[in-house]
Amino acid sequence: EQRRPLIAGNWKMNGSLASNHVLLSEIQSGLSELSAAPCDIAVCVPFPYLAQAQSALQSTSIAWGAQDVSVHEGGAYTSEVSSSMLLDFACRYGIVGHSERRTYHSESDISVAQKTLRLIAAGITPIVCVGETLQERKGGLTEQTVARQLNAVLAQIDGASLDKIVVAYEPVWAIGTGITATPEMAQQVHAFLRAQLAQANSVLAEKVQILYGGSMKPDNAASLLAMKDIDGGLIGGAALKAGDFLGIVAAA
Ligand code: G3H
Repeated sequence: EQRRPLIAGNWKMNGSLASNHVLLSEIQSGLSELSAAPCDIAVCVPFPYLAQAQSALQSTSIAWGAQDVSVHEGGAYTSEVSSSMLLDFACRYGIVGHSERRTYHSESDISVAQKTLRLIAAGITPIVCVGETLQERKGGLTEQTVARQLNAVLAQIDGASLDKIVVAYEPVWAIGTGITATPEMAQQVHAFLRAQLAQANSVLAEKVQILYGGSMKPDNAASLLAMKDIDGGLIGGAALKAGDFLGIVAAA
């Protein structure tokens, strides 16, 4: 199965109207110099900048999305943002279960699964993040951890909807640290995740894009993306510099 790579930027809590304007313009002009976009491209921006991303990108091949969504449909949930609100800004993607949400906001596997369902119901593609901590890796618990995280989601969704999700494998120890998983280490987990997906639907599992995230940069992207089950990247730090982001896109 030939899967089209997806390079998605996760801006996290960075940016301003002014700096976003520059970044998005630089990405667009850089892309127009590449003969054909070699992959799907997206940026996941802070909620307040969704309108800006929509207006800047709506007539381009770059998609945009959010970094989280509420488990609730609507109502008295102060500060929460619903899937229908994301749809108002034509988001194509929504990240769910990022390790920073799991760690700093105590997100459970169950709430990540509920958020995934909300996005699927709204027609927005969830980017479901899984990954082990350093302690879990050292304890030989990598597969057990990512299986638990992914299977909580798979238990909730219909196998026929499997191709509506994107999975991101982000080893927590590689996020923002400058330490990347080797291509072989990452591939091993990606293949394991695809085997888990295949238990839900073996045909659609071959179509699911499984992204790698964790200190992906222009100089290590090509070797990671060359691996059989690595279908793109979820990019943090390097997504904030147009040159770096475009360097990764060019490697895809
Ligand atoms: O969502 C993106 C990841 O957390 C990776 O972040 O590229 O800064 O390591 P990073």
